[in-house]
Amino acid sequence: MFKFKHELIEKNATLLLVGSLLVVTIGGIVEIAPLFYLENTIEKVEGMRPYTPLELKGREIYMREGCYNCHSQMIRPFRDEVERYGHYSLAAESMYDHPFQWGSKRTGPDLARVGGKYSNDWHMAHMINPRALVPESIMPGYPFMAERELYVDDIEKHMEALRMVGVPYTDEQIAKAKEDIVAQASPDLIDPEEMSARYPKAVVGVFDGDPEVVTEMDALISYLQVLGTMVDTKSYKIGPDGR
Ligand code: HEC
Repeated sequence: MFKFKHELIEKNATLLLVGSLLVVTIGGIVEIAPLFYLENTIEKVEGMRPYTPLELKGREIYMREGCYNCHSQMIRPFRDEVERYGHYSLAAESMYDHPFQWGSKRTGPDLARVGGKYSNDWHMAHMINPRALVPESIMPGYPFMAERELYVDDIEKHMEALRMVGVPYTDEQIAKAKEDIVAQASPDLIDPEEMSARYPKAVVGVFDGDPEVVTEMDALISYLQVLGTMVDTKSYKIGPDGR
């Protein structure tokens, strides 16, 4: 009986089409519909904050220079990756990234947790000439970044645009953006305390060694130093042995 009916569907193209559509529709509804009822598809984690204006500028330079062509920012949940780079990347860690920098090409190492791995001086020397520190490196040098003053005139607009897509910048953060850029990169000139209150745990420093001018290098290094450091990953266990 059943066999007979199946034969009917197989021999009638219209019936087969209608039947297939029906099955795909049911499958689609089961998979997609629940997503509309979830409050949030990204699990919230503690510590995530929007980038400071200086870090945001550094991120812009990272994209402008195409660092993503050689570097990914996504540690996959495999043992070899976790042992080399640290805790695998959490979805929430790129919730304020527009666009995200996960990447798919690793000519150089993954940078998702490079923040705090090296000193500012190391980064400065490495960015100017990678071979000064890693003789076999094929990474290009970017010495011009240390010479070029950071262009900041569009920072408020950039933050406003990010706010439109869900990054929770406050009016105060946007109004103080230019001051915060100076405060983070030249702590001797402006009191950085106030800025840290707006951006918890933001790292302040003379990233390029010159406190007088805020350069593209200041911005880029401040960005590299915050990568993967916002969330305390030690509180997120991976396996039964806590690795
Ligand atoms: C042509 C490919 C290439 C490009 C483009 C490139 N890198 Fe690299 N990068 C590498 C390679 C290869 C290494 C490993 C050797 C080394 O440390 O120099 C590396 C290493 C690094 C490291 C050290 C990572 C670690 O964990 O030791 C940082 C930081 C870094 N790159 C940042 C950048 C930034 C920022 C840019 C863009 C301005 C950039 N790279 C562009 C290839 C590249």
